[in-house]
Amino acid sequence: MKIGHKIIRVQRCSSTNDLAKKLALAGEKEGTVILAEEQTKGRGTRGRLWYSLAKKGLYASVILQPPSALLSLLPLAGGLAVSDACRVALGLGIKLKWPNDLLWRWKKLGGILCETSFRGDRLNYTVLGLGLNINHNLEDFPRDIRNHSISLKIITHKEIAVDSFLACLWPALDNWYQTLVRGRQKKIINSFLKRSAFSWGEKLAVLTDEGAFQGLFRGINRRGGLIVERDGQEKIFFLGEIRRVITDQGG
Ligand code: BTN
Repeated sequence: MKIGHKIIRVQRCSSTNDLAKKLALAGEKEGTVILAEEQTKGRGTRGRLWYSLAKKGLYASVILQPPSALLSLLPLAGGLAVSDACRVALGLGIKLKWPNDLLWRWKKLGGILCETSFRGDRLNYTVLGLGLNINHNLEDFPRDIRNHSISLKIITHKEIAVDSFLACLWPALDNWYQTLVRGRQKKIINSFLKRSAFSWGEKLAVLTDEGAFQGLFRGINRRGGLIVERDGQEKIFFLGEIRRVITDQGG
């Protein structure tokens, strides 16, 4: 089933990812979207809370069953879909930060949280969760994230018609998901790099549970891993968050 052909809308839930998982276990088909007006326990990456104010943001999860070897490319495909929808619906060129951040001028516009369930070593289902700041005013964001958050409304100075935006988002997501399952990794990686917040050779820090690692951005490999070079050696990351390292050019 094409993504977005079946949309289950709820007024409120703890997390659309949790609801999608429950429905997938109960037999809900690949492609079904769960859409909530509000989440009471929205989750972000690295165990963070995803602030989910009623009717201001997009809180959606899609049930998928990609080949498990391609899983680490799924957040990249999701980011490309949101970026296409922003371009088509609003004429905006947003940036993508590996692996799952959606940015506008280094401020956070949204993010993707993919969660997978395995039965033995076989993939049972995956849920692609998407959070996007749509009609927030600056004061709608909690103080601690206000300085680095942004919404489509703040960028465009206009109230966003969510349904028209979604009419662009589902076909874009279906298109990038098909690109993924057809094994066209190169297409996904090259497109992602063109829209990447980081450029080749730029200095960055990767924050992982084991600590921070500084090096130079050297792209993304076929499996969706981040390539970072330090002292002439390349290291690949599949988990982590990247930050800019501002160097003092004058010094
Ligand atoms: C991130 O930390 O950048 C990822 C945020 C993902 C938030 C979305 S909102 C819909 C879905 N349900 C959740 O609980 N989280 C994701």
